[in-house]
Amino acid sequence: MKKVLIATEKPFAPVAVKKISKILNKAGYEVDQIEKYTSKQELLKAIATVDAAIIRSDKIDDEVLNAAKKLKIVVRAGAGYDNVDLKVATANKVVVMNTPGQNANAVAELAIGLTIFGIRELFSGNPGGELRGRTLGLHGFGFVARNVFRIARAMGMKVIVYTQYSKDAAAAIGLKVTNSLEQLYEKSDVVSIHVPARGEHIKSVSYKVLKHLKDGSILVNTARKEVINEPDLVKLMEKKTGIKYMSDVTPDCENEFIKKFEGRYFFTPKKAGAQTAEANLNAGVAAAEQIVDFFERGDETHKVNE
Ligand code: 3PG
Repeated sequence: MKKVLIATEKPFAPVAVKKISKILNKAGYEVDQIEKYTSKQELLKAIATVDAAIIRSDKIDDEVLNAAKKLKIVVRAGAGYDNVDLKVATANKVVVMNTPGQNANAVAELAIGLTIFGIRELFSGNPGGELRGRTLGLHGFGFVARNVFRIARAMGMKVIVYTQYSKDAAAAIGLKVTNSLEQLYEKSDVVSIHVPARGEHIKSVSYKVLKHLKDGSILVNTARKEVINEPDLVKLMEKKTGIKYMSDVTPDCENEFIKKFEGRYFFTPKKAGAQTAEANLNAGVAAAEQIVDFFERGDETHKVNE
């Protein structure tokens, strides 16, 4: 009998765990679960005997992969798979998948929420601004950005985008694609970042780009902290004292923000973008179904490693 581990340091909503288990049990698989675990040891022990694993931002490094002697597939219930060592997974013949788009609306709603929180001066009572009529720049145009676009347009915002890989998708809905990232940052009142922590995107939000932001604009990051060059962001916020940074993840230089930028930033204590029952259900169910399809039909759709 195949055994599937649900390993979520940050737990799924109970309704999602129930549905995931139902799908896997129906396929004749046994389900094991660890959540809110506090030591890597727990993960190493739990993963040692399973054929498949469903994870979130749980770190699947070489040690974990090498301990997982029976593992054939790991599905990241979500979009970003920067937490999985793809090279070691490939070497160990473990298929890695994600569930693209399944939690995108949840993250997009948080991006808009952070934007409103920023423009309303963190609900401090000080006069803020409105989003209607302002320009939103989407840095990247994947599933999350497309949902942000839908919501922002309904709020009366002008939306522009910079994308290297989804130009046709943006043009197809009449969205203006800027010629450069610099131009996007220069023209926007709000920039929302939607690129993965991979390849050329790592530290791509550097001073070269940031210096084009207008004073008074808001930078929203529901992607990953790794895409930001943090010292450059601090330098910019020192120079342009009206800029705000709203992020769904605490930067490494949080202490500098506390010291220097009171009232100009907000960081969620734990990555919260996909932390809704709906997103957990969508991504978790997709992950369970992908595992069943993989074992029963050899389906490798959404495989992200070689
Ligand atoms: C993702 O990459 O899907 C999101 O960042 C959500 O991550 P999480 O599952 O750790 O909340």
